[in-house]
Amino acid sequence: MDLNNHTAKAALVTRRQLLLGLIVALLLLWTARRTNLYLTRRRFKQQHGCRPVRKRFRNRDPILGLDAVWGAVQRGQAGTMLEWLHWRNSTYGPTFAARMGLHLPGSAGGDAAVLATRFHAFGHGDTRTGSFGPLLGRGIFVSDGARWHESRSLLRPNFAREQIADLAQLERHLGLFLSLVPGSGDITIDLQTLFFRLTIDTASEFLFGTSVDSLRALKESGGLIGNGGTKTSDSAFAEAMNDAQSDILLRARLSWFYHLQSHPRGAAAVKFFVDEAVRQREALDLEKSGSSAVGEKYVFLRELAKATKDRKVIRDELLNILLAGRDTTASLLSNLFFVLAKRPDIWAKLQAEVAGLEGRLPTYETLKNLKYVKYCLNESLRLHPVVPLNNKQAMEDTGTVVAWSVYTLHRRREYYGDDADEFRPERWETLRPSWEYLPFNGGPRICVGQQYALTEAAYVTTRLIQEFERIESRDPGPWVESVGLTVCSRNGTKVGLYRVSS
Ligand code: HEM
Repeated sequence: MDLNNHTAKAALVTRRQLLLGLIVALLLLWTARRTNLYLTRRRFKQQHGCRPVRKRFRNRDPILGLDAVWGAVQRGQAGTMLEWLHWRNSTYGPTFAARMGLHLPGSAGGDAAVLATRFHAFGHGDTRTGSFGPLLGRGIFVSDGARWHESRSLLRPNFAREQIADLAQLERHLGLFLSLVPGSGDITIDLQTLFFRLTIDTASEFLFGTSVDSLRALKESGGLIGNGGTKTSDSAFAEAMNDAQSDILLRARLSWFYHLQSHPRGAAAVKFFVDEAVRQREALDLEKSGSSAVGEKYVFLRELAKATKDRKVIRDELLNILLAGRDTTASLLSNLFFVLAKRPDIWAKLQAEVAGLEGRLPTYETLKNLKYVKYCLNESLRLHPVVPLNNKQAMEDTGTVVAWSVYTLHRRREYYGDDADEFRPERWETLRPSWEYLPFNGGPRICVGQQYALTEAAYVTTRLIQEFERIESRDPGPWVESVGLTVCSRNGTKVGLYRVSS
């Protein structure tokens, strides 16, 4: 008995010693890493003459930064997140440090070092893989280095000038769009819903060679319309896309805590997309399509299938580009038309310019001459940037996250004057911004779809001006943000449209 007691005690002591040893080893390791980090940072600062970030956001939870995570989630739901970020910059200045879910972001204005001159030192790191990963896998938005380079090289030829300049396909989809808009003005419609369908229809055809044809589905399901909205059709694709995006967004807001949450509807949507991508690949019988004939259009999906047989890679790339192609241009158009519906003065100026086409369909070349249309698009992207927030992580050294608010940057008075908060397209007559205007990001990762998006948005705007003589806002309130992966109007774009009488 005594012997047993003695043995048990000895085992307990050994376990305690082991535990103590482990704790000491961990502490030593941690101290060594911190010292190493400190010395590396000091050396780096001396070499580059860095000054410390002087302002620090006062986190109520200075260790985990839970208050900032919770604040972002709450304000996102209330539609006031961008204004909150704007307030933080007005209070703490253009650059400050804050803790947010274990990351320590410095919120800055447009930063040429992060995006361009020291491009390779900053990447997405783990800031995106956790939140975006379940839907976007290792596609272009999530990857860095060689993987990113491969994705970008495969995608770029799709956006060659001659591909973008072919507007016949866009006009076909727009025809369907117009057939869904009553022109008598007495019925209120939500243009935002229709813009989202239009852009997924055009982007899927442009990039995959086959359109998901969601406008046609809407039309065939009986089309329109309730008072103030569009009756939804059975368009599983668009609905699943929304679910999956809500999931990504919540995970992004939860920062490091994305590990703790799961979203069953999002997961189901992801499965839907996997099936959809695989089905598309099979339907197009890619293996048999062989190499493109000379002069044939570059279709990203076909080239991708030629480059790899890995279904996961195909899935990832398709979802990434589909996401980019749908929401961005649709959000730009929705935000712009929200403002236009309240500004008959701007609508009249647009009409005067578009009248120069004398009723002809715009071409890639004639669109370039429509300067006021371009000013309106620029101004919408300035005041309501479709991608209002961004971040990068230092890949060398510290792992620090640098986050910046494009929304705030675009409203800084030192760049845009005292009327920075106003929608005034005329400012673009003289404005030539550089790193203070970043709707499409900058540097090697600048938006690859920029010209495509601007051409599509200019075309759609011009055509709607040709078709409708008057637009009336049916939303008494101001524009309110809905921050998803992109920013659009929380209450949609409710308008009445009056067709030009023939
Ligand atoms: C108004 C419309 C658009 C805006 C404001 C916009 C904005 C942006 C921004 C800010 C980024 C950088 C995001 C990041 O940090 O990862 C980006 C990247 C990208 N955009 Fe766009 N975008 C638009 C339309 C489009 C369209 C229509 C497509 C394709 C059909 C597209 C494809 C991409 C791709 C593939 C990337 C990733 C580029 C890379 O990482 O190398 N974008 N876009």
